[in-house]
Amino acid sequence: MNDFTALTGRLEELAAHLVAGAALLFLATDAAAYGNSDDPFYRAGLDSQQQRGAYLTRAGNCMGCHTARGGQPFAGGRRLTTAFGVFVTPNITPDEETGIGNWTEADFWHALHEGKSPDGQLLYPAFPYTEYTKVTRQDANAIFAYLQSLPAIRQTNPPHAIRFPYNFRPLLHIWRALHFTPGEYVPDSSKTTQWNRGAYLVQGLGHCNACHTNRSLLGGADNELAGGQIMGMNWYAPSLTSHLEAGSSDWTIDEIVALLSIGITDRAVASGPMATIIRQSLQHLSEEDLRAMAVYLQSISDSKSDYAAASAAPAPISAYSSLVHGEQLYQTYCQDCHGVSGKGVPGVYPPLAGNRSVVMASPLNTIRSILEGGYPATTKGNPRPYGMPPFQQILHDYEIANLVSYIRNAWGNSADRVTVYDVEQSRRIGVE
Ligand code: HEC
Ligand code: HEC
Ligand code: HEC
Repeated sequence: MNDFTALTGRLEELAAHLVAGAALLFLATDAAAYGNSDDPFYRAGLDSQQQRGAYLTRAGNCMGCHTARGGQPFAGGRRLTTAFGVFVTPNITPDEETGIGNWTEADFWHALHEGKSPDGQLLYPAFPYTEYTKVTRQDANAIFAYLQSLPAIRQTNPPHAIRFPYNFRPLLHIWRALHFTPGEYVPDSSKTTQWNRGAYLVQGLGHCNACHTNRSLLGGADNELAGGQIMGMNWYAPSLTSHLEAGSSDWTIDEIVALLSIGITDRAVASGPMATIIRQSLQHLSEEDLRAMAVYLQSISDSKSDYAAASAAPAPISAYSSLVHGEQLYQTYCQDCHGVSGKGVPGVYPPLAGNRSVVMASPLNTIRSILEGGYPATTKGNPRPYGMPPFQQILHDYEIANLVSYIRNAWGNSADRVTVYDVEQSRRIGVE
């Protein structure tokens, strides 16, 4: 291999890391990003374009990333920890010195649509312009008008602390050449207006693909929304196109809308980073937009009938001592909330029986839920959610392995048993 190919190989590797980086960053947008400040979205005196912009800003969850914990809304300073180091979000209030007060509408469009700042610098895809590029000029202008209406906050944020060589911005030229094409959403004329509206929101401002895809060097359009491990963090964002994961072909539109807006249904609960997205963004969308997203999501998922083979029979509990042990642990620690037959309590405690996220191939989220507990999203439809306590100090790894194997095979559930090794791995990922 000559020097040139070695260098090209190395650069491609770096580019691959940058792509993966784009996905993992989103995880940092976790619970309690804000909530202490007055709601900046319902200020008096906004004209109709600014109001529209406020709505779209929520749909893009711009505030979630651009607000430090306990900080001023949109003044940036939020630290997004990644495998490459820490990105610190910029101030996007209209302060002329420290924010985007001097920007023109066109400057803002270039940032959102092309990932370029006014001085010509390329922006890191930690800012999901990779999806926001689908936003129309009209919507971008409305978002800009809203941001410019905010109180200007003078706040200088620390620079990113990214490791060499990722801190070398010109590398982004390579990454972009391989993976980024600016382009607005192009409506599919064979589909309804409602479907296209849903696709526009899911692919664009909703930036679902930023988490729900495994980003790799070769990652092309065919694995869009097909699920991905969020690198460096112990969450797996399930596939939205497979019924075996979070695909919704066998859900009704009402059920999908309820999950996206309330955060918990009789069949599922959104946890961790997904709960945050619902709390900060999705619950604030109109019924009409939620329905449009649901119609689109339902249409992109495969269904049971696409598969000829029936799924494997569940492992009989009594045949394995590990499962018998898991059952005992379940009765001691879990049954009070999740119920004798794993059905949970509708709208309060999620079911484990028939729950897709419990039986999907990756046991990561299930293990994580048990290790760390958690709360469903706080939403208008579920204003005081009941939580689940963490069990990481109470249960040993082998106990958690047996417990997870049990709930993956009890009450008609059927999935591979998990090992102590899986639990150890889950503990390890996400330790920052
Ligand atoms: C997942 C976190 C995240 C979300 C969500 C997000 N941003 Fe950002 N944004 C960033 C990061 C990180 C940067 C810095 C990128 C860089 O330095 O290259 C950034 C940069 C920017 C910039 C460039 C600012 C400058 O001074 O150069 C603008 C403008 C911006 N974001 C606007 C928005 C808007 C509008 C939204 C919502 C539609 C949004 N962002 C949503 C993380 C996010
Ligand atoms: C910050 C990363 C992130 C973003 C952005 C994101 N998701 Fe998720 N999503 C996750 C993770 C992680 C899970 C797994 C946890 C869970 O099951 O709730 C998940 C789970 C889900 C589920 C399954 C919930 C269940 O338990 O059945 C659906 C449906 C979903 N997401 C839809 C969406 C849609 C639609 C969008 C865009 C509007 C979106 N997600 C954006 C990370 C994300
Ligand atoms: C005090 C009531 C309570 C107890 C006890 C409890 N849970 Fe939970 N569980 C919940 C709640 C509430 C949620 C939703 C939390 C969230 O979304 O983060 C949940 C979520 C889960 C999930 C995630 C489901 C999903 O769809 O993502 C799993 C798996 C789980 N519990 C398993 C267990 C196991 C195993 C035990 C026993 C070790 C247990 N729980 C004990 C209340 C409880």
